[in-house]
Amino acid sequence: MATLGVNIDHVATIRQARRTVEPDPVWAAALAELGGADAITVHLRDDRRHIQDRDLEVLRRTVQVKLNLEAAIAPAMIDIACRIRPDQVTLVPELREEITTEGGLDVVAHRAATATAVGRLRDAGIAVSLFIDAEPRQIELAVDLGAGAVELHTGRYAEATTAQERNERLEELERGGRLVHAAGLELAAGHGLTYRNVVPVARIDRMGELNIGHSIVARAVLVGFSQAVREMKALLSG
Ligand code: PXP
Repeated sequence: MATLGVNIDHVATIRQARRTVEPDPVWAAALAELGGADAITVHLRDDRRHIQDRDLEVLRRTVQVKLNLEAAIAPAMIDIACRIRPDQVTLVPELREEITTEGGLDVVAHRAATATAVGRLRDAGIAVSLFIDAEPRQIELAVDLGAGAVELHTGRYAEATTAQERNERLEELERGGRLVHAAGLELAAGHGLTYRNVVPVARIDRMGELNIGHSIVARAVLVGFSQAVREMKALLSG
């Protein structure tokens, strides 16, 4: 059975909209754990648009399940990762102008910098996952670079507009998954997964961790909305 890594970045996005203290992603992490999350995932971006350094520090001390830090291969980010020591670092591409991580890390194009980052993290005793597209060249190089896991980018599957395209994208992920597994690496996947499209990905042979953020936070806002309004109304009428 696939495991669930809950990405709580967007809880911090709501907080940063007002630069205030709520909602605190640390609280969200605790609630995610109570809900059964197998891992808590956060992305500390260079521009600090959502998760802050303080969040990562507190999460390291409070998260009881696996803490997975998504980080760029930039040396300054690897310095932070080595200091904080999450259970796992997932190396991701990062562009300032993107809304979210738009494609996998191109480990072929960034071979030297990725190798340096992987080496430093491994020397620090931190498990390393590479977030890449399900392409054979990327997967083969991820293996050579010594990653312990590969997270396949599911964005193209999630964005497919026809059933045929979705099936083709799913087959790409399945083929990629077989390569990852044959090389002895752990298999993970994520990006754009929702309550509607997750099941076929979860059923990919030997699928491990699925990292899901936006869809869970989006649903949490709505399923909690009526209760939040009722509580405010109760105060006004009290
Ligand atoms: N996995 C990785 C490596 C990501 O960068 C992201 C987005 O931060 C996710 C999973 C989660 O994607 P989503 O928010 O679309 O569920």
